[in-house]
Amino acid sequence: MKKSLLLFLLFPVVVFSNAFWGKTGHRVTGEIAQEYLTGKAKRAIHDLLDGHSLAFVSTFADDIKADRAYSKYSAWHYVNYPLGMRYKDSNKSEHGDIMTAIEECIAQIEDENNARTDRIFYLKMLVHFVGDLHQPMHTSRADDKGGNDIQVQWFGEGSNLHRVWDKNLIESYGMTYTELASELKNVSREKRKEIQAGTIYDWVDESHDICEDLYESVEVGEKLGYRYSYDHNELLFQQLQKGGLRLAKILNDVFG
Ligand code: ADE
Ligand code: ZN
Ligand code: ZN
Repeated sequence: MKKSLLLFLLFPVVVFSNAFWGKTGHRVTGEIAQEYLTGKAKRAIHDLLDGHSLAFVSTFADDIKADRAYSKYSAWHYVNYPLGMRYKDSNKSEHGDIMTAIEECIAQIEDENNARTDRIFYLKMLVHFVGDLHQPMHTSRADDKGGNDIQVQWFGEGSNLHRVWDKNLIESYGMTYTELASELKNVSREKRKEIQAGTIYDWVDESHDICEDLYESVEVGEKLGYRYSYDHNELLFQQLQKGGLRLAKILNDVFG
């Protein structure tokens, strides 16, 4: 087959495959959380989201980045502080961070005097940020912008450490968000209670400690692929599962 014809046929696959898979992690977290909502939380959320699922609204906070009117929320997706430090001891950004974001969302949803549209907005944002909190490169170092400046190759294509953890690993696994969620949502009551214990302050430091290992897992310019996936998929699954169970815990408390 002529090379130009082959490229023409492959074009849609190459261009469009990138477009939506990046959302998989957030949807998995939402789908797992949905399973562990109390009846009361489920009804309140069903009402606010007009019947849409947590998975469906989980990408809203990324979608609005395309609109300048929402630029004040861009710093709400992550937090940077030095490795080895605890969040509570760190210097806080004047623009806010993922922790102040989660607290603000909770306060806004809980305020029953708030307009319904505002409570809906902050609910969608909260679902997203609890997912981001469990992506270790969203709780990492300022110098390299959370790994965005650490260039690597992923199966021969240019990428960076941040992107590997946002998209490359999960996309390469090749399961849909519903398939991943149904694998990860079966957790014993005992293990679930263990994962849901603590506060967002414990969880951010846990994620922050994990990012330390991830910085050590790559060299700048390294060619990553099958071996990196093999070594890190368990951690990826664990973070998705924790994100889902903890999102359910937060929502059950908010709507309890
Ligand atoms: N996304 C954009 N900038 C970031 C940063 N500094 N840390 C983590 N995630 C980010
Ligand atoms: Zn985000
Ligand atoms: Zn990211």
